[in-house]
Amino acid sequence: MDEQLQIAQTLQAVLPDLTIDDILNKLERPKDSEHGDFAFPTFFLAKTLRKAPQMIAGDLIAQLDTTGYQKVEQAGPYINFYMDQGQVGANILTEILQDPANYGRRNLGHNAHVTMDYSSPNIAKPMGMGHLRSTMIGEAIARILEKEYYQPVRIDYLGDWGTQFGKMMAAYKMWGDDDEIAKDPINTLLSYYVRISKEAEDHPEYDDLGREWFAKLENGDEEARRLWKWFREISLERFQRVYDMLGVDFDSYSGEAFMAPKMDEPIQLLKNKGILKPSQGAQIVDLDKYDLPPLLIIKSNGTTTYITRDIAAALYRKRMYGHVKSLYVVGAEQESYFKQLRAGLKEMGFTGTTKLNIFLLG
Ligand code: ARG
Repeated sequence: MDEQLQIAQTLQAVLPDLTIDDILNKLERPKDSEHGDFAFPTFFLAKTLRKAPQMIAGDLIAQLDTTGYQKVEQAGPYINFYMDQGQVGANILTEILQDPANYGRRNLGHNAHVTMDYSSPNIAKPMGMGHLRSTMIGEAIARILEKEYYQPVRIDYLGDWGTQFGKMMAAYKMWGDDDEIAKDPINTLLSYYVRISKEAEDHPEYDDLGREWFAKLENGDEEARRLWKWFREISLERFQRVYDMLGVDFDSYSGEAFMAPKMDEPIQLLKNKGILKPSQGAQIVDLDKYDLPPLLIIKSNGTTTYITRDIAAALYRKRMYGHVKSLYVVGAEQESYFKQLRAGLKEMGFTGTTKLNIFLLG
C-alpha cells in the first residue's frame, strides 16, 4: 500500500471530519530523515479545535493506532511518522513482481520522438571499442526513454563518405582480390587503404588517383558507385553481426553519404543569416563569441566537410522526425567538435526548435 495513504488513513481514524485528501494535502516530507519519513503539521487545526497545535499533536498521538509503523513521534506541533523499512521494501518488491516490465514507468514523453545518434562506426574499418561503448550506452538510453513513453529513433550515422573512399577504390583497382575480401572484408579493405597511404609517399600519383576516384564517386560514376555500395554492404553486414549479438536494431543507417548531396540547404541558410564568411578561399562561420574555433563549411577546393554534413543531418532529422530532443552518444574526445556543432546550429537559429543533448563517454 502507498505509504502516504496508509498515514492518511491512520490519521483519519482520529480526525473523522477531514477527508483523506485533506490529510494527504497536508502531509510533508521532512528535509532531514531524522524527523521521520513523513510529518503531519497540526497548525491548521488550531482554529477549529481551539487548542494550541502542540496540544493537538499530543492529543492525536495518544489516540493513534501506530501498528505497522516503526514509530510515530510528536515533535512540537508535528506528528512524525517513521515507516517500517522492511514493510516498505516488501511492498515495493510485491509491486515490482506484479508487473515487472512496467514498474516505475511514467508517461513523460507522450510518444514524442527523440532522435538518437549512436554507434555510428566507419565503413571499411573495424568497429572499435568506442563504437561498442556508444552502442551499448546509446541502446540503454533508448530503452529507458521507451519506458518513459518517448519514441526513440535509433540512427546509425555511418561514416560512409569522404576522400578516403576514393583512395580505397584506387587501391582496390590496383591490388583488389575478391576472394580475400570475401573472407575478411573489413580487414582486407583496410589493408589496401593502409598500403596505398604508405606507398603514396613514393608514388604521389596514388594520391591523384584517390582524388579522381572520389570525384567519380561524387559525380555518380557507375563503377565508383557500385564499389562504394559494395564496401558499405560488406561492412554493414559485419557490424550487423555485432548488433544482432547485442539485440540492437536501428531505424536508420543513413550516414554521411546520405547527407552529402543535401548540402545546399544548410549553406543557403547560413548565407541567408549572413554568417557564412570567406576566409583564405574557404567559407567559414565565425564562433569567436563562443570561444570556439570557426566552423569550416566549404573548403578552399570547394568541397564540404564532416561538420557541414552533421549540420545537414540535424536539419534533416528535425524535418523528418519532428523530435523534441536530439541525442548524440559519443566519446568525450569529440566534446569540442560537438560544442562547435551546437554553436553553429544556434547561430543558424536552430535552438528554440531542438535541444541537442550530447552524451560524452569516457
Ligand atoms: N563516425 C564517427 C566516428 O567513428 C562517429 C559519428 C558520431 N556522430 C555524428 N553525428 N557525428 O568517430
